[in-house]
Amino acid sequence: MKIVAIIGSIRKDSYNLKLTQFMQKRYKEKFNLEILSIRELPFYDQDIENNAPSTVKEFKRKVAEADAVLWVTPEYNGTIPGVLGNTIDWLSRVDKVMVGKPSWIIGATPGFLGTVKAQLHLREILFSLSSPLLPGNEVYIGAVHEKINVAGELIDEQTVKFLDLVVTNFLFWMKHQKSFTSK
Ligand code: FNR
Repeated sequence: MKIVAIIGSIRKDSYNLKLTQFMQKRYKEKFNLEILSIRELPFYDQDIENNAPSTVKEFKRKVAEADAVLWVTPEYNGTIPGVLGNTIDWLSRVDKVMVGKPSWIIGATPGFLGTVKAQLHLREILFSLSSPLLPGNEVYIGAVHEKINVAGELIDEQTVKFLDLVVTNFLFWMKHQKSFTSK
């Protein structure tokens, strides 16, 4: 199974990036997780959407070819970061690559609430994109700076255990998505 990860932070020391890299290693026997960079995407512009730059086309091709998208995002000002909204705007138009594409969401922040508000908004956005979303299995990782060590490993046992469970649930759910995704 091929999954692409879209991370809502372009910061080089991003906790959400580290978390995704941890997942890449931990679940490598279960699925191939490719991290897509959103840094090179230009601002979404309706004037050029039908003849988008090659970076946009290539990005959309990777999403279209994936079995699912994993969204890993921080929260900015009580919602999703602007760079993530920009990415979603590109994905939502012309060939609409998110239609029928299964999604799941994880989020981490040093703050207490663990990206609850950002994820609520992202869920609504994915609904309007017609992307089926893994039900339940809400992963809100607060105080992430205390849970990831300098080597980038998730060291909080409870969080790792919960992630393992969510991955199991996600893979089970994906089996039952077949008819919808192979449209
Ligand atoms: C934040 N941060 C933040 N945290 C949070 O829990 N709720 C919020 O609303 C916000 N708002 C916010 C706005 C802006 C502009 C910045 C730069 C930061 C803190 C944020 O979660 C923290 O910087 C994370 O470390 C960012 O994620 P990465 O880059 O580590 O993945």
